Amino acid sequence: MTESLKLNEKVIVALDVDSREKALGLAQELAGSGCWLKVGLELYALSGLNLIEEFKKLGFQIFLDLKLHDIPTTVEKTMRVLTASGVDMINVHCSGGYEMMARSAEVCHRAGKKIIGVTVLTSMGEQELSAIGVQNGTEQQVVRLAKLARKAALDGVVASAQEAKILRQECGSEFLLVTPGIRPEWSEKNDQVRVLTPRKALEAGSSYLVVGRPITMAESPREALDRLWD
Ligand code: C5P
Repeated sequence: MTESLKLNEKVIVALDVDSREKALGLAQELAGSGCWLKVGLELYALSGLNLIEEFKKLGFQIFLDLKLHDIPTTVEKTMRVLTASGVDMINVHCSGGYEMMARSAEVCHRAGKKIIGVTVLTSMGEQELSAIGVQNGTEQQVVRLAKLARKAALDGVVASAQEAKILRQECGSEFLLVTPGIRPEWSEKNDQVRVLTPRKALEAGSSYLVVGRPITMAESPREALDRLWD
């Protein structure tokens, strides 16, 4: 296996597109490259689990990014439905609490799927956190929720690549760190502010890199994927 094929297995391409056709077109272009696909709320709302089965036929591993957050019973029952599909990794909000995470983790693991937690959304600054009653600083809150996720047997968390180093120290070497905010030197930043290059993010301890627009908006998505490692 070439170096870039092996590295591509750590890339999760965020399919933030507004139609099933665009999503399938991108998937066909990227098939065989080794990368994962991320299906978020918009695409899921448009196409549901059916599209995920199409992606599976093309050989992809799938991260379903729905950020579930509800009472434990509701999330557990939803997990039973989702894990019966071809998804490989699912997420919940850590702020849903220990019981919600633990019961979800049990369902996912029984089905052989991975489950990760969302700590603090990067759209939430310290002022917004304080407005919802969180007195901790952002990093302190991220670490607190990541440790709770670990205790509840989640496989890891979604976190900014900037937080990867401290989370790796606090949560150990096996904990998955799935990090967005990735930009190769050659790419535009779009609305991302604090970014790391793919190689720097891996050095900081990321397990998987979530990359969207540098690949999905490129003239040749497949070429852009391979150029992540330039
Ligand atoms: O296009 P881009 O590479 O910025 O896409 C990043 C993906 O990661 C998007 O799907 C976005 O919703 C997601 N994300 C993020 N920052 C977070 C969490 C998720 O950019 N903190």
